[in-house]
Amino acid sequence: MTAKIIDGKAFAAGLRSMVAQQTAQLKDRHGLVPGLTVVIVGEDPASQIYVRNKGKVATEMGFLSDTITLARETTQDQLLNVIAGLNADPAVHGILVQLPMPDHIDEGAVIMAIDPNKDVDGLHPINAGRLSSGQNTLVPCTPLGCSMMLADHFGQGGMSGKRAVMVGRSNLVGKPMAQLLLAEHCTVTIAHSRTQDLPGLCREADILVAAVGRAEMLGGDCIKPGAVVIDVGMNRLEGPDGKTKLCGDVKFDEAREVAAAITPVPGGVGPMTIACLMVNTITAACWAGGIDAG
Ligand code: GUN
Repeated sequence: MTAKIIDGKAFAAGLRSMVAQQTAQLKDRHGLVPGLTVVIVGEDPASQIYVRNKGKVATEMGFLSDTITLARETTQDQLLNVIAGLNADPAVHGILVQLPMPDHIDEGAVIMAIDPNKDVDGLHPINAGRLSSGQNTLVPCTPLGCSMMLADHFGQGGMSGKRAVMVGRSNLVGKPMAQLLLAEHCTVTIAHSRTQDLPGLCREADILVAAVGRAEMLGGDCIKPGAVVIDVGMNRLEGPDGKTKLCGDVKFDEAREVAAAITPVPGGVGPMTIACLMVNTITAACWAGGIDAG
């Protein structure tokens, strides 16, 4: 069997065009322009690329888009002041502080300082709590994108009763993804670096989501025949020619021979994450404007 390739790039393009349409409607009907501000501290090259892309797509959507670039030496208090200003600014509906931050800044304290209703990353404990108690909330963008692709693949109710294994337990991906799978009535296991017999556990999964950040860690021996595999990994691996290539947490060539469907890297989860940031910004703007987000 050769797996169906889940085309995140095409899915994300569709989602972005929906968001652009919704943005035009919000402007026409309510005079509301969604505003997204991304804050980056320091000069991490990968983060700079991500942040530039977020700003570019936000502008394409018709949002009021701003990027605040702060020096690596910025103190935590200075950053908290910037966030307080954004919380108070009615033109800003979404705030995202790019991670990771320099070591002298306490990420938890920064996330806690963001107004939960502007937290388009869905990382504030209030939003994590809302998600785990089944309330409407801002869901972290990467798991939101993964769950949209899964819902599209399985159709309404199609995940109910399936065994799902989430490899990775981060606040950004693993924990919220597990909650989303649970909300779809999957039987969910969260695995991580200390899990015993990880391949054996993964082979039980009808739905396998990998977010460990280790290049090609999960091989074909980790895939149940007919499983659906979502690869969140974005790793750089040096090829035999000395050039680096982007690869996931799953050995794609092996997995695609066993799975029913799989997301590629690049072109799978990555484009969905930015598109979902735009979706979350629309949601936050609607909340601020007292408009039904639909
Ligand atoms: N760094 C890598 N992914 C993300 C993300 O989704 N949000 C933030 N804030 N930082 C990130």
